[in-house]
Amino acid sequence: MKNITIAIDGPSGAGKSTSASALAERLQLAHLDTGAMYRALAAALLQDGLDPSDPDQVLAHLNHYDLSVDFEGADQHTLVNGIDRSADLYTSQVSRAASDVSRYSQVRAYLVAIQRKLAESQSFILDGRDIGTVVLPDADIKFFLTASPETRARRRWSELQARGERLGLEEVLADIEARDYQDSHRADSPLKCADDAHVIDSSELSFDQVLDQMLTLIQAAGLELVP
Ligand code: DC
Repeated sequence: MKNITIAIDGPSGAGKSTSASALAERLQLAHLDTGAMYRALAAALLQDGLDPSDPDQVLAHLNHYDLSVDFEGADQHTLVNGIDRSADLYTSQVSRAASDVSRYSQVRAYLVAIQRKLAESQSFILDGRDIGTVVLPDADIKFFLTASPETRARRRWSELQARGERLGLEEVLADIEARDYQDSHRADSPLKCADDAHVIDSSELSFDQVLDQMLTLIQAAGLELVP
């Protein structure tokens, strides 16, 4: 039976990763969070004192970084030069730096090659910004999950609060809007909805409702998903 690929794209804070992992658990598929790869690279650059917003610095050092992804059950571990970066990926500093490094074509080419190789090895759900448009344009089913900036900012703010990062809601909203702009205006693989993606706006939906919509559409697509 051929490998199945499910693409979930959308802006930050739309709930892609959470719904992708719930879907993966429900359908017994592997899940690759591609944002974690951009974040892990950004975290490693920051730790090494490099400036992720400076393309000269990043590109001069890119070949010193060896990124790999391991799975322990459903848990993704994203390693750079053998060091698991999974614990330091979700600070505001790393979020901004990941958006910066994701602008560079050489960085994208490097990470996209790893993503495609993984997706060839077994059935996968991938979430990111360019999965349905660039990484896997032939994915079996594509979702574009979105929500209003205010809804996404509120969700992100709650996550940051829970992690002890004391940012104001206004600041989080400004950050989300800046990243939206940067992610959708970069020259290479900007965030955009694939023509054949199912658009789900989660602003007024509960998590369960989003998941139900996805499962219904997957069923309607007739994918042969045998766990
Ligand atoms: O999904 P996320 O917030 O963890 O992603 C972090 C950053 O990485 C985001 O600003 C955009 C970038 N990204 C990307 O350009 N392409 C992807 N496939 C995934 C993430």
